[in-house]
Amino acid sequence: PVPIIIDCDPGHDDAIAILLAAGDPAIDLLAITTVAGNQTVEKTTLNARRICTVAGITDVPIAAGCAQPLVQPLLVAEDVHGDSGMDGPRFGDPTVDTVPEHAVELMYRILTEHPEPVTLVPTAPLTNVALLLTRYPDAAARIREIVLMGGSTERGNRTPAAEFNIHVDPEAADIVFRSGVPVTMCGLNVTHQAPATPDVLARLDGLSTELGHMCVELMTYFASTYQRLWGFTSPPVHDPVAVARVIDPAIVQCVDAHVAVELHGRYTRGATVVDLHQYLDRPVNARVAVHLESELFWDRVIAAVDTLGRR
Ligand code: BDR
Ligand code: CA
Repeated sequence: PVPIIIDCDPGHDDAIAILLAAGDPAIDLLAITTVAGNQTVEKTTLNARRICTVAGITDVPIAAGCAQPLVQPLLVAEDVHGDSGMDGPRFGDPTVDTVPEHAVELMYRILTEHPEPVTLVPTAPLTNVALLLTRYPDAAARIREIVLMGGSTERGNRTPAAEFNIHVDPEAADIVFRSGVPVTMCGLNVTHQAPATPDVLARLDGLSTELGHMCVELMTYFASTYQRLWGFTSPPVHDPVAVARVIDPAIVQCVDAHVAVELHGRYTRGATVVDLHQYLDRPVNARVAVHLESELFWDRVIAAVDTLGRR
């Protein structure tokens, strides 16, 4: 299995990403780190603990990370994810706790101690990852690759040009894309190919486990906000797409391109400028996801939820 650290801001779709990473046999989930994004880091950390409690994920350290983006003030997605950051299900008190280390320290320690290079899977603003790369320059050589959910080859979902994870911390994203570490970008253009359709919800419900039902409640709330804000009939479940790319590259097809993060545009700050046609004559610095095999994707997600739900 591929050793990974998932850096997240749960978040309805982050929750599904955690479950896929913990439940799929192709992944060795070494840690869950949290960051401010969909909600404050206090709330996203509590949500990570809640998910791990319901899913029985008790052997994976959870560490809280940055509370603020590198430069600009935090902007949360309460309209999408609710006041808790993961509205919908009713959670009891979590029994899974965090470790006392900061997320960036935990990441660095795992990277230096693990016998093989580790893949980072950020599904949130890139603040923790950027801090790791700047504070510990030797970490880069220990990272096998960074497979992230963020950006788009097309338009944004927070501004006409910017996707939420990049929009919240553009400076951090810029550091990551310019770091020289192999980066795979799973943006909106591909995550919009992963809608939680009524058929998906019926399959999760049909697992007849507490965890399956929790997923249905999460996706039902997520569907209601995506319907209200953007008119989607089924909500795109962004974050597990990055995990699926690590599980089996054939599920998420990519092309090589130069990706730049726009930091100064008057209307386009936070945009990922993806040079699919080599207009800029810049070296390739990313693999950019362009197509999702959505049936294979949902099969893996549902199998992971099934596995965890039965333990
Ligand atoms: C991204 O923004 C967040 O709201 C989601 O969790 C996902 O990571 C999609 O733009
Ligand atoms: Ca997220």
